[in-house]
Amino acid sequence: MQNSVFIIILLLSSLLQSAIAGDVSTCKQRKLCQFYPFPIGLALDTEKLKYEEVYWNLALSEFSSFTPEQILKASYIHPRENKFMFTEIDELMRFCKERRIRLHGHTLIWHREIPSWMYRKKGSKSEDLETMKQHIDQLVRHCAGKITGWDVLNEAFNEDGTLRENLWFKRIGPDYISEAFRAANTADSSALLFYNDYGLEVPGPKLNAVLKTLTSMRQDGVRIDGIGLQLHITIDYPSKAALEQACRQISEAGFMIHFSEVDIRVTGQKSSKKKQRELLETQANRFATLFQLYRSLPKRQQYGITIWGLSDADTWLNENNKRSQPLLFDEKYRPKPAYCKLTDTTTRN
Ligand code: G3I
Repeated sequence: MQNSVFIIILLLSSLLQSAIAGDVSTCKQRKLCQFYPFPIGLALDTEKLKYEEVYWNLALSEFSSFTPEQILKASYIHPRENKFMFTEIDELMRFCKERRIRLHGHTLIWHREIPSWMYRKKGSKSEDLETMKQHIDQLVRHCAGKITGWDVLNEAFNEDGTLRENLWFKRIGPDYISEAFRAANTADSSALLFYNDYGLEVPGPKLNAVLKTLTSMRQDGVRIDGIGLQLHITIDYPSKAALEQACRQISEAGFMIHFSEVDIRVTGQKSSKKKQRELLETQANRFATLFQLYRSLPKRQQYGITIWGLSDADTWLNENNKRSQPLLFDEKYRPKPAYCKLTDTTTRN
């Protein structure tokens, strides 16, 4: 008799501990992507996909779209002028085709991850333009028909709405933007073409400049299908109203919208297990608000929501050694309150 009482006490205390600690293993996995009428994407770590079974199982069961986090960036895929490293992406395109998983290409032109040969290869303006177009043409043509959409250009505007003076701006001038989209369209007229950036989730000079510039290019015949809002946000910022206003502006301008790199940092003092749990519940509500807002967009403008990483152990935000717990699964790949809320049909309206 005494033994069974002891066992019951042990069980209850461990349940209580895990409940306070935010251990949400009580929430079963439910195939997140099947709960929404638009693609649910994952920034994919191809190494983890290959070598970590728990990563493989979650990536395949929960998501319907992959954005390779690294292997399409110029420094990786085009390390030398006459050398493309296509092996990884070829393997992933085959893998995704077999499993009917959408692939999103990230990113053709960016101020980061530029291989050193591109810096060294300085020519005339027309030669530099040709260098940029060749990179785009060979990569997009190689993947034509297997990558649904591309981030043609990433983070090309400053907070104040001026153009970032990246390598291509300096060498070619502002026309590099329309030239990049034209080159991508020529290489694969079936792929959707996006401009991707952070800081577009609130109205302001950056968003205004992006919309003005892209709309003007469209009027000149340049095909630009959508805008990626990266949404590297926190549990407090931006406000729902600001995000709604920004989405309205983009939607009214006629662009598809991709919530392209979503993570929601849990800021604030995690002084106690109770406080920690409250913060994770706040994060869950933020994710739910984001998904509900996205569902309210016109269907023809919904490209999807991509989460920028699988578990809190994988996030790029760990680079600055802060434990911001921004994702849907915790460091041990267990579902967090945010995952549970997104897959809880009883609470979703
Ligand atoms: O693969 C090498 C490895 O061989 C080497 O040992 C290691 C240590 O130097 O570096 C590894 O490469 C790292 C790569 O991630 C793969 O893990 C790079 O150093 C590191 O800089 C790179 O960080 C990525 C970053 O973009 C720069 O490309 C992050 O994982 C990725 O989450 C982040 O994502 C960006 C988006 O592309 C654009 N929007 C912002 C977002 C966050 O910065």
